[in-house]
Amino acid sequence: MAIMLAKGRFRIYQMLVGSGVFGSVYRAYDTLKDREVAVKLLLRTPAKFQNLYSGEEEYEFIVKEEFKLLQELAPLGVFPKPIGIIRQNRLLGIVMEFIEGESLMELLNDGPLPVERVLDYGVQLAEQLEALHTAGVINRDTHPGNIMVVPDRTIRLVDAGLIRRARKRDLRREQWISAMRLKLKIWATMYGHVPPEVVRGQGLSASQEPLTPQADVYGLGGVLLDSLLGHKVFAPSELWRKGSEDSPSLPMALCELIEAMRDSRPEYRPLMAEVGWTLRTLRGQ
Ligand SMILES: Nc1ncnc2c1ncn2[C@@H]1O[C@H](COP(=O)(O)OP(=O)(O)O)[C@@H](O)[C@H]1O
Ligand SMILES: [Mg+2]
Repeated sequence: MAIMLAKGRFRIYQMLVGSGVFGSVYRAYDTLKDREVAVKLLLRTPAKFQNLYSGEEEYEFIVKEEFKLLQELAPLGVFPKPIGIIRQNRLLGIVMEFIEGESLMELLNDGPLPVERVLDYGVQLAEQLEALHTAGVINRDTHPGNIMVVPDRTIRLVDAGLIRRARKRDLRREQWISAMRLKLKIWATMYGHVPPEVVRGQGLSASQEPLTPQADVYGLGGVLLDSLLGHKVFAPSELWRKGSEDSPSLPMALCELIEAMRDSRPEYRPLMAEVGWTLRTLRGQ
């Protein structure tokens, strides 16, 4: 039997298209507007992690903030367009545009991608992340599970859950993320894509130095590494070995770029605009 949400407006017909730490995402049909949508139900106590939210109010605040960020960023066309918030029993769900395709994480389960495709995806990601930076936000959570590859090979980002507004003061949300980091102790261990300054908690409180867009340069470097080598982030030295071992097709300039993007010191990493430029140049060759 189909599960209906929001008094029958949304019919869930594919149970799970994906899940992360915070949410489970379902494919659904919007009977009112005759279109497909995605519904991200935000879990209250995600697997393994207890007491993520201090209470009902904090849970609602965090879900609504994610929705508001999607609204603010909708004109860029990078993230799925938000449609509404629904309540399903004790859970809240974000209804949004359904992005066709597979996440990069799923694609990489079949092995590494050819260099030309990595360059193509890299160029698109650099442009999208730069657009986010210009709009005043830092993605902070750039990894293959948050990247969708549409069948025509267009790239879309999903998951505005950990985005940071660089301009507007956002302290309450940052405090929650800071508390969550301690509770979950996740970032350092879970993804090799999280820059050291984020792991240290830079920018999570008003007294600290702010986080910079260079965090996303590091994350994108990890995505490029994953894509060239397989689905788990390796050290850039692995890349050099692969480059010399099995393919003259892995351009040295790409290895150098990724190594620079993965520098532990943000100020030594190239700027996102330079990353985009280098990737475009390599793609054109
Ligand atoms: N709008 C969408 N359309 C299609 N699939 C999506 C959409 N949003 C998320 N997904 C899928 O669900 C997975 C988890 O979503 P995400 O927002 O990253 O959750 P979390 O915050 O828990 O990490 C993604 O990896 C992706 O595969
Ligand atoms: Mg995610």
